[in-house]
Amino acid sequence: MGKHRTAIMGLGVRGKTHLKAMLENPDSYEIVGICDIREEVMEDVKKMFDLDVPAYTDVEKMLDETRPEVFVFVTYPDLRLSMIELAVKYGVRAVSLEKPMAESMAEARKMTQLCEEHNIKAVVCHQQKYLKQMQDLKRKIDSGALGKVKKIFAECQPWMAQLGTHYMDYMIWANGGSRVKSVIGHVHGPATMQDDHPSPDFLFGEILFENGARGYLECGYFAEQHNPDMYRDTDNRLTVWGEDGYAYAETDGYWGECSSNTGSKLVTGKDPGWYHFQEKEIQTPYYTEYAQWLDDDSKVHSCNIQTALHGYEVLEAIVLSALDNRRVDLPLKEIDYEPVMERMKKELPWFDGCDKEPRDLYKGDWDRPERD
Ligand SMILES: NC(=O)c1ccc[n+]([C@@H]2O[C@H](COP(=O)([O-])OP(=O)(O)OC[C@H]3O[C@@H](n4cnc5c(N)ncnc54)[C@H](O)[C@@H]3O)[C@@H](O)[C@H]2O)c1
Repeated sequence: MGKHRTAIMGLGVRGKTHLKAMLENPDSYEIVGICDIREEVMEDVKKMFDLDVPAYTDVEKMLDETRPEVFVFVTYPDLRLSMIELAVKYGVRAVSLEKPMAESMAEARKMTQLCEEHNIKAVVCHQQKYLKQMQDLKRKIDSGALGKVKKIFAECQPWMAQLGTHYMDYMIWANGGSRVKSVIGHVHGPATMQDDHPSPDFLFGEILFENGARGYLECGYFAEQHNPDMYRDTDNRLTVWGEDGYAYAETDGYWGECSSNTGSKLVTGKDPGWYHFQEKEIQTPYYTEYAQWLDDDSKVHSCNIQTALHGYEVLEAIVLSALDNRRVDLPLKEIDYEPVMERMKKELPWFDGCDKEPRDLYKGDWDRPERD
């Protein structure tokens, strides 16, 4: 179907991964412009990828001069809604952005609404679904080897806005896209509100899906360490329990299965995992699937913005439930309440063992190696 004219903004750690993945789909994307506020980064990127395209420090100038069909922006959550507004202004047909999708529920809804109104195909990067061990887990569920799905358990050492947003999305994916009906939640600890991905130090949510399955999501320091020798940002496990067995997959490559396939014994193994081999590999099929959606309306990408919005809404509901001490039913109707981030900054008390900053949380029982 030809190449999609693509402009990309934000060429930091993740931006380079996005760019590389598009270049590894050479029949689908033509890069027509790059943008970053740091000129030296753009020089590096041009050399790294042997790229001879116009470079901009002003994103609006890039969109105005290059008029791309696809706009990829790989920045922090404070630059999401304004980028979608620019996409609308310059007639962009598709946008690709990073997680977490927004800084508030109102913003997440507005972004999704703008994309729907202007027929913009939008994806939010919850790409760990493409890890081999995750794809294998999904095949096990879909093959029926685990029986009817009853419970889905997501455990993440990193906090809500870092990995919670990913694993919430994977719970919905593992459960065949069923929407969430009601949640109850717990949050504690204000230290991580100082992070560039503000979050409670720990969050736990119990989730009732419309198809009757239950979900249990925990993220933050108090989550179980499955592999203490691994870095905490990859110690995340998704476990699916069916009527006939269970299986799990982790970001760091570990997996396990106990089902009729394994003679009802727990069999475990390890794939290469996120940092070691797969990080660069999973973004390429992500962009292959995106091009398929751009070419064919029926091939909707698994990371489409509507699905991401629902995951965002479930996390929001868990926090609301915790702050208000009540069950929260979805969809959320009135959202013109005081933003939950502001409330958590004010309302979450400090506690013994954490009285200064997020690093305190990982001392003692929660000690982990630090990644450079
Ligand atoms: N999906 C994942 O697995 C994953 C992993 C890590 C990070 N992330 C997310 O990716 C996002 C970016 O993270 P990162 O680690 O790449 O950050 P980064 O700081 O390495 O890169 C951000 C880039 O954006 C540029 N930038 C900032 N403001 C700009 C502006 N106004 N115009 C143009 N360029 C601008 C910066 O100069 C920088 O190069 C974050 O939201 C983070 O949560 C996702």
